[in-house]
Amino acid sequence: MLGRLNHVAIAVPDLEAASAQYRTMLGADVTEPQALPEHGVTVVFVMVPNTKIELLEPLGEGSPIAAFLAKNPSGGMHHVCYEVDDILAARDHLKNEGARVLGDGEPKIGAHNKPVLFLHPKDFNGTLIELEQA
Ligand code: CO
Repeated sequence: MLGRLNHVAIAVPDLEAASAQYRTMLGADVTEPQALPEHGVTVVFVMVPNTKIELLEPLGEGSPIAAFLAKNPSGGMHHVCYEVDDILAARDHLKNEGARVLGDGEPKIGAHNKPVLFLHPKDFNGTLIELEQA
């Protein structure tokens, strides 16, 4: 069911500073910031040859990464995103297997204008998993 690793996401306290660090210290191409109000985050993508790194900063009240950053003030690895061919089939399969889908269980449109879902980290070895329809 799992396809390619689409990205690894890192929550950061200061998106501008993190983007600058990736550009200047690490010599990477970094996209322009993209606000995703429905997800409560602003994101950039660091482009590396075989995948992407998503840097996330909280946006607005009640951001889902605010509590994470309160516990990890200097930032930290937040989730991994795998591609799937059919997100609804993947969701139904995972629910049948006992995995918990976060939110109302319906895919939302993610940063790449494709449907995404998140799976409960307690069901996956402490790792938050994002699924994106490829
Ligand atoms: Co992501």
